[in-house]
This record gives sequence, C-alpha cells and structure tokens, in this order.
Amino acid sequence: MRILVPEKIEENGLEILKQKADVDVRLDLTREQLLECIDQYDALIVRSATKVDAELISRGINLKVIGRAGTGVDNIDVDAATERGIIVVNTPDSNNMSAAEHSIALLLALCRNIPQAYMSLKAGKWERSKFKGVELYDKTVAVLGLGRIGSLVASRLKAFGMNVIGYDPYIPQERFDSMGVEKVDSINEIMQRADFITVHLPKTNETMGIISKKEFDMAKKELRIVNCARGGIVDENALYEALKAKRIAGAAIDVFTNEPKEGAAGEGFSHPLLELDNIVFTPHLGASTVEAQRNVGLAIAQQVLNALEGNVVEAV
Ligand code: NAD
Ligand code: MLT
Repeated sequence: MRILVPEKIEENGLEILKQKADVDVRLDLTREQLLECIDQYDALIVRSATKVDAELISRGINLKVIGRAGTGVDNIDVDAATERGIIVVNTPDSNNMSAAEHSIALLLALCRNIPQAYMSLKAGKWERSKFKGVELYDKTVAVLGLGRIGSLVASRLKAFGMNVIGYDPYIPQERFDSMGVEKVDSINEIMQRADFITVHLPKTNETMGIISKKEFDMAKKELRIVNCARGGIVDENALYEALKAKRIAGAAIDVFTNEPKEGAAGEGFSHPLLELDNIVFTPHLGASTVEAQRNVGLAIAQQVLNALEGNVVEAV
C-alpha cells in the first residue's frame, strides 16, 4: 500500500502508517506534480492547504481513502470522492480544545492590543495610553455555531462573567439551556446585541459571507469579531471596509479565504487586512499545539489504516 502525505502531519502518526505501508511525505509538491503522481497512491492524507477537488480525485485511480488530518473537510470534494467509492475520513474530535483556546487567546489579544503593544515596545516605545483596551466582563458575546468548538468557547467565556448568546438553528433549545447560552434566532438580532462575536461555523454555501456589509451596518461601533473557523464566513471585503471606516472596533482572524501551503517554494502571504491596525491575526494556528497535533496524527493514521484494511470507519 502506498500513502501520499503532501502536508505536515505529526511523526507519531507517520510511524504507525510506516509499519503497514510505504509512506511518501512530499511537502514540496506543486499542484501539477500532485496531479501527475496521485495515480500511484492508495491513500492521500492532507491538512487544509491541499485542494482535493474533482480533478485530483479523478486522477487518483488507485485511491481508496482520503484522510483529512483535522476537522474541516471543505477543501475536499466529498461528493466526487464518494461517487468514485473513495472513503473520506477526518479527525473531528482531536483539535477542538486547541481551536477553542486559540479563539479565546485571539479575543484577549484583540481586546488588550497585545500584538500591537508588543511591536511598539520592541521598537523601544513606551506607549501606555495608546493601547488602552476593553474588558470582557459583563459584556455580551455571541457564539455563532455551538458545535464541538463553539460550545467549549461558550463555557470558557461564561467563566469570564460574560453574557453569552448563541446562533445555531440546528441544535435544540435544551442544548442551549444546558450550556446556559441564550438562543437567538436571527443574525440581525445577533448583530444588534453583540459586543463581541466569535465564529465557529463550518464552511458551507449557507455560512459563507454570513457576516457581510449588511450585517456590519447593523452592528454596534464597539463590536469586536473573532474568526477562528474558516476564511470567508466573515466576508473579507466587508470586514476590511468596516474596520477601515471604524464602523466596528476590531477583528481577530486565524483563517483566510485563500491560504498558501506552508513551505511551498517562494510562497509568501499578502492580504489587504494585514494593512490595518485594528486587527490581530495568526496564520491558521488554531490546531497548532503539541497536544492537538499528537492527537490528530494518531487519529488520522488509525482512520486511514482502518479504511485501507477494510475495517469499520466513521466516514465523513
Ligand atoms: P461542528 O460541526 O462541531 O459545529 C458547527 C456548528 O455549526 C454545529 O452545531 C452546526 O449546527 C452549526 N451550523 C452549521 N451550519 C450553520 C448555519 N448555517 N447557521 C448556524 N449554525 C450552523 O464544528 P467544529 O468542530 O466545532 O468546527 C467549527 C469550525 O472550526 C469549522 O469551520 C472547522 O473547520 C473550524 N476549525 C478551525 C480550526 C483552526 O485551526 N482555526 C481548527 C479546528 C476547526
Ligand atoms: C481543522 O479543520 O482541523 C483546522 O483547520 C486545523 C488544521 O487543519 O490544522
């Protein structure tokens, strides 16, 4: 059996795979090279940077399984894979805590201008009044999507003494009640009430651009928004305009609509949002912890081997 790994996954997972298969870790592959070589592999394991679209899937004539080392499968055409009898597996329970903690870290960094103050102090300036922040305590925070990560974030924000409201039409009232989160049925109401918004939705046709110009126009001027889910759920152009015009107070972003592949030759990153001062950002680090990557590495190795060996798997 041959397994192709074009993105970095943890060594513990690779070791398990290597006991049963030939594993090629090829982090430098271009899209063209990937298209050319995919026919040689039984399994492909990716993170979020590799676009596993219908074209790549159709070239993978020997593929039996596509493994997503992480949660979101929005970079994989699951329908195209299913049509060709290729199983898609992911590791949805392995990095939730890290993503939840990173969302809180971004929120706090945003509220207290930590990256900006750090840069200023590094430059030898002592600017205390410039970096006056805001508290979380007693403010209203809206959690969009109360699934695995959103619910962890909600419980942690309650510990800060926040009034937590939530938008997720797909979960029952009882779940809101058990989390102590007030259920809000419309995004419009969320925009009018929230001092903070934190986004934990999957990337779907329904959620892309769910917060856009119309929504920002309804928001409080003090709104600060965090997106540690997927780029584009908060429309990037609308966010840029709202931040630039100081229509809202700030944003913290871990994810972008178009992200480069780490380590790809010559690839850098530029984006209009990076020019602004009232925003903090990280390069898709939500799951980048020792613990999450160890969990993800083990889980994806086991899932892929199970699929290759014909054992029961929980497919996407
Ligand atoms: P999940 O599936 O457990 O939860 C998503 C929730 O969103 C569900 O409760 C669902 O009912 C709700 N939802 C779906 N469509 C909705 C809609 N149109 N309106 C309102 N609610 C809707 O997902 P999760 O594991 O909590 O992941 C959340 C997001 O975080 C995903 O986008 C995932 O890809 C992303 N993620 C990012 C990182 C990172 O590194 N930044 C790490 C892990 C996950
Ligand atoms: C995920 O969906 O799990 C995240 O995007 C994190 C990752 O891919 O590392």
